Amino acid sequence: MPVTALVSAKSCGTTASALALTLASRRPSLLAECDPAGGTIRAGFLQGAVTAGYGLYHLAAAERIGRSELANAFAHHLWGIDDAGHRKLLPGLTDPAQAPALTRTWPALAEVLKVLAADAGHDVFVDVGRLALEAGRLHPTLTPAPLLHAADFVLLTVRANDQSLTLARHLIEPLRTELDEHGTGSDALGLLLIEDGPYRPTQVATALHTPVLAALPWDAETAGYLTTGGRPPRGYARSPLLRHARSATDQLDALAQRRSIYLNRSAPDANLAGVLQRLTNARGGSRG
Ligand SMILES: Nc1ncnc2c1ncn2[C@@H]1O[C@H](COP(=O)(O)OP(=O)(O)O)[C@@H](O)[C@H]1O
Ligand SMILES: [Mg+2]
Repeated sequence: MPVTALVSAKSCGTTASALALTLASRRPSLLAECDPAGGTIRAGFLQGAVTAGYGLYHLAAAERIGRSELANAFAHHLWGIDDAGHRKLLPGLTDPAQAPALTRTWPALAEVLKVLAADAGHDVFVDVGRLALEAGRLHPTLTPAPLLHAADFVLLTVRANDQSLTLARHLIEPLRTELDEHGTGSDALGLLLIEDGPYRPTQVATALHTPVLAALPWDAETAGYLTTGGRPPRGYARSPLLRHARSATDQLDALAQRRSIYLNRSAPDANLAGVLQRLTNARGGSRG
């Protein structure tokens, strides 16, 4: 199963889309909330149910001890976001000031996420948030670039309107260069289109010279629930956002299988794979 990183040029629905994909996937799934500006799911969708004792920040200390400590800490810090325990969240930072402590954790975390996807059969989504640029390249410390390098897909979230496309345009070349030089290749880059605006997917793809790999409808009610939590709206599981998100995960899985034929993946770390296999049978904390 693929690791899919979601990024944006400006707040436009990245977190709500990442949650929709994670909750809609047909397979076990995980959302790692890795936005250096801080996570919003804890206070939003989860309405404060997860304390600051859980989450991404705690992986930094574990990584300094070793790789299997990191894998164990990763498993411990996941939070179940469905009743069956098939969908998990690694809650994000509670304070942007925590981000520099993660700089040396990103490569090891990227490896854990890859193993979880490739060997433990999870659809893995990584919310990387808004990208910062410096001199036409990804900002070296404000962007968790190793998460993008390891991803099968990097989806730039855009809305189908001029304001969004104008800002997204500046990220295309820096992302392509980064993925060609350090990632799995610039063909990992695609768009996640939120259909809010006058443009059709083909027009957006042409305008940004980048394929639309997933499209999600404007669905304020479902997105509102994913953003602020509370009671799910009536017909939530069959809502336009969830149904399209489910199709999007199917499409990404199919594309990843085709793409992996061309990619020469190195063998995963056996230790890490063992820890993560056990994780798939264990439950983390759970909502409700
Ligand atoms: N598909 C959608 N339809 C309607 N509203 C959406 C959709 N996706 C996101 N939103 C809304 O847009 C706002 C920003 O979403 P959020 O996911 O927090 O963006 P980001 O993570 O990019 O900052 C929220 O109010 C959210 O409910
Ligand atoms: Mg966000």
